[in-house]
Parts: sequence; structure tokens; C-alpha cells
Amino acid sequence: MNAPLLDLRAVGFAYGETPVLRDISFAVHPGEVVALVGRNGAGKSTMLRLLNGLLRPDAGTVLIDGADTADRKVSELARTVGTVFQAPEQQIFNATVRSEIAFGPAQLNLGEDALQARIAEAVARTGLEGLLDTHPLDLDAATRRFVAIASVLACAPRLLLLDEAQRGLDRQRRARLADIIAEERAAGRAIVLVCHDMDFVADTADRVLGLAGGLLAVDATVRRFFADEQAPHSVSVERPQIAVLAAALGLPVALTPAELVARLVPTMEGDADASDH
Ligand SMILES: Nc1ncnc2c1ncn2[C@@H]1O[C@H](COP(=O)(O)OP(=O)(O)O)[C@@H](O)[C@H]1O
Ligand SMILES: [Mg+2]
Repeated sequence: MNAPLLDLRAVGFAYGETPVLRDISFAVHPGEVVALVGRNGAGKSTMLRLLNGLLRPDAGTVLIDGADTADRKVSELARTVGTVFQAPEQQIFNATVRSEIAFGPAQLNLGEDALQARIAEAVARTGLEGLLDTHPLDLDAATRRFVAIASVLACAPRLLLLDEAQRGLDRQRRARLADIIAEERAAGRAIVLVCHDMDFVADTADRVLGLAGGLLAVDATVRRFFADEQAPHSVSVERPQIAVLAAALGLPVALTPAELVARLVPTMEGDADASDH
């Protein structure tokens, strides 16, 4: 297998006297979409801050692309790791959408043409055409979230961290975000998304990491995680609607409506066969 982009070894972290994470080990490879789940206060946002170097572990090591974050500056790590924070207004500093999106890639010495191409691509992927001269803080929260997403995408990070980026988005924008995640995966990037919405997890992620009691209580494929009633319960999350529906129908777990239909159609044909006799 290719080398991990992210490799945590026995990581522990406390805010002062309060331990938040203990003995956490996992690796994430290019092309993987990992959902980080757990109840409020489980340590998900803290984990993301350990992954982008804003926090350093008290115990163990965090390796990004093989290098220990303890030895590297946040600005250096930012070339590899891009973060969309939980509250996007915290990461918006510029007076127009255009300058906000240009700010990150402008630090990368790309040359003017490559820089403009990066910006145009990020704008198109996030649907922000026509808003480039607007002040980001004049936009509604969902649009502002996409400004934050665009400014991170424009830096083309190999590891993308999303903290509840799907929260409060309408159907169309959720679908757009899901598309962006799928495109990043196809381009060989790794994505870690903190997400309370298990429908979105089922739709977008390959693997689930679940935090409970400061420990990594779950590390499983999405399918295995939702096939089991106990695993979601153990990290205080619900199964997605589609998995509940499949279970109620006595079918193996389904993660998308299309998958559920594919499971139902042979059943219906089987019934049709049975009624012929
Ligand atoms: N800056 C901080 N200082 C002290 N405690 C914090 C700080 N940030 C978070 N915590 C505490 O750490 C725990 C984990 O928080 P957090 O990582 O934000 O959880 P989650 O994102 O899963 O809701 C919580 O108990 C929270 O109150
Ligand atoms: Mg959080």
C-alpha cells in the first residue's frame, strides 16, 4: 500500500489538567475519506487541530506525509493540510470573496497565471461566480462556508480537514459539497470530515473513526460501521435513515438509495416468481 499521508501513533492530548484524547493510533492514506464521529465534546475538533498542527500532542506523534508535526511550523504544514473550521467567520479576513480565495494560494509562489487558474477553478467548484466582489461577511452562512471551502481548495491541500462543513446546508449545497469530496478523493487527496450527520457520512465517507471517552472506540469501514447497531451506539450516533430502512425491510445494510433499490429489485422479482407457482 502507498505511504500514509497521516499517521498517528499513541497520541494523547489534554487541555491543562483535562485529558481529551488518549492513546490514539490510526493512519489515513491518499484517496481515503474518513468521517470522525462522536458526541459533543468527544474531542473531534481537538483531533483536527492536532492534524493541522494548531495543537501538538502531549504524548505520541502525529506524522504528516512522514514528518513529525512537532518539528514543523503551522505555516509549513499548511502546504499539505487545509482546514475548513467549524465557524467559517473565524477564518475569513479579507474584504472581498475574490481576495479571500486568493489569499492562501498567493503564499505558494505559483506565478500569476497558475494563481488565477487556481482561483477560477475553486470559484467554479463552489458556485461562487458572480459574488467575487462581495464582502464575505455580507453573505449568508452557507455561502460564506463555501467561501471558506473555496479558499482551502485553491491551495490544493493533499489532506483536507472539514469540521461540520455540511451543517445547515440545503440539499443542493450538500450535494455540491459531496461532489467536491468525491472529486478530492478521485484526485488522490485524503479527507477527514467531522460530521454529526450520518446520512452525509453514509453518502460520502469510506471509513469511520469514532471517539468515545477519549479513546478511538471505532475504526471501521462505513459499511461495517452501519451494518452493526452497536457500533454507532457506542459512539453516540444514529444510523442513517437508509440503513434503518434496509434493516426494517430485513435486507443487508444499504448506504445509498440506489443501493437499497438494487437490494429490493431482486426481492420483488423473487416474489413475482413465487406468485407464478
Ligand atoms: N480551548 C480549550 N480549552 C479547554 N478545554 C477545551 C478547549 N477546547 C475544547 N475543550 C474541551 O475539550 C473537550 C473536547 O472538545 P472538542 O474537541 O471541541 O469536542 P467536539 O469537537 O467533539 O465537540 C470538551 O470537553 C471541551 O470542553
Ligand atoms: Mg467540534
